[in-house]
Amino acid sequence: MTEFAADRLLLFGATGDLSRRKLLPSLCALDADGLLPENLAIIGTARSEIDESEFRDMARAALEEFLPAERRGDMARFLARLSYQQLDASSIDGFDALAQKVAEAGRGADDAEGGLAIFLSTAPSLFGPTIAGLKHAGLTGERVRMCLEKPLGTDLATSAEINDAVADAFPENRIFRIDHYLGKETVQNLLALRFANILFEPIWNSNVIEHVQITVAETVGLEGRVTFYDDAGALRDMVQNHMLQLLALVAMEPPTSFDATAVRDEKVKVLRALRPALASETVTGQYRAGAILGQAVPGYDEELGKPSTTETFTAIKAHVDNWRWKGVPFYLRTGKRLPERVTEILVQFRCVPHSIFEGQKLQTGAGLMPNKLLIGIQPEEDITLSLMGKVPGLDENGVRLREVPLQIAMPDAFAEHQRRIAYERLLLDLIKGDQTLFVRRDEVEAQWQWIDAIRAEWDAKGVTPKTYTAGSWGPSAAIALTERDGVSWHE
Ligand code: BG6
Repeated sequence: MTEFAADRLLLFGATGDLSRRKLLPSLCALDADGLLPENLAIIGTARSEIDESEFRDMARAALEEFLPAERRGDMARFLARLSYQQLDASSIDGFDALAQKVAEAGRGADDAEGGLAIFLSTAPSLFGPTIAGLKHAGLTGERVRMCLEKPLGTDLATSAEINDAVADAFPENRIFRIDHYLGKETVQNLLALRFANILFEPIWNSNVIEHVQITVAETVGLEGRVTFYDDAGALRDMVQNHMLQLLALVAMEPPTSFDATAVRDEKVKVLRALRPALASETVTGQYRAGAILGQAVPGYDEELGKPSTTETFTAIKAHVDNWRWKGVPFYLRTGKRLPERVTEILVQFRCVPHSIFEGQKLQTGAGLMPNKLLIGIQPEEDITLSLMGKVPGLDENGVRLREVPLQIAMPDAFAEHQRRIAYERLLLDLIKGDQTLFVRRDEVEAQWQWIDAIRAEWDAKGVTPKTYTAGSWGPSAAIALTERDGVSWHE
């Protein structure tokens, strides 16, 4: 942790989609709750040739569209924090003027006390030139942090190029790589569930856990991100980052403390222990026209306007090759245009080693089921432990056992607490300088290594996506992937 709170936040890509949908709303919500440093100035920069008042108008419109009215607080006070400097980041010319703007925005704060946090949410092709420009303009000093939004490359090699360019100007302890899933309260709660309770850790291994499923299902399609998505596909867009981070949090050893080094050291060990997946352990799909929640939607190729071999769905049987997880498959599945938006983790336990009810007259269909723990990440934030219970009765026709849920609805349990946008937490940690919920370079690279091996397998075996109807749970091969192990996806 670098010990200073930033008094200036410089947003690259300030007029872009992420800024409008998430960053400005998150900052405004933090401001409304009195959580931003009082003197924090926010400088937006982008290619758009607009002036400061037009930028504020754009920001106001974004807040009205993407932030619920009750979270906006004093919008005028928030908007007064904003300034704007037009910049073509591909050329070095404008960076001196930008540095001037940043200096002015310091509101007189002494350089020795203030600090600058830079948030890069631009096309990755601009990362290199932006870093060079910042360096040239003296904006990479010791009191400057750099935050990077995905995509950080398209494979290990391109990701290393970006990381090298950034490392040329900033040490790792001042680089903040975003994976917005880590900003989600329910994702952080995984750590609390595992490491703030004594119940789970002793059974959290291959002796008691049979398999794990991680599902990140979306109902949306391309959402206008035509070029980006078609170059990326589900594996790089969702598995490389969000899903592998979820897997790492589920599978990691207990860190010695909740700090950036300890947590990330344990995550990276898991990521490095991932066994390269064979093509036969993966399924890819691409959606065709169908219906989502009763609404007809076009196929991927129609949305794109041309045929494509990009996968919009993938399912993978992953293995973590270490003592704890020997023989426990981690089934991952993600896709666009699936029937519902749901992110959840299912931990399936093994059957009891010996059933004392075996010799009893058990009612048909009333037998023992193995326990499972379902962790809802979104939209439902519930934790459900399925236990076996005895159905009340005199058992004249035999004992009846049934699965009963032990359920915690997190929003109810913590009703008095504000639900927040993931970026609120991440932006605040960036301003304060806490890297725990940001991804370290070695993690990103271990993630890419595993993803690259899958892509190489797909290329070698000529794998192309199977089609699935929008509104279904992906190609039937995804069902076969688990069914051949006697496992059904949780739906
Ligand atoms: C982004 C992906 O990282 O995550 C998108 O690029 C995806 O394709 C999004 O839709 C999902 O985020 P969330 O928070 O809505 O689950």
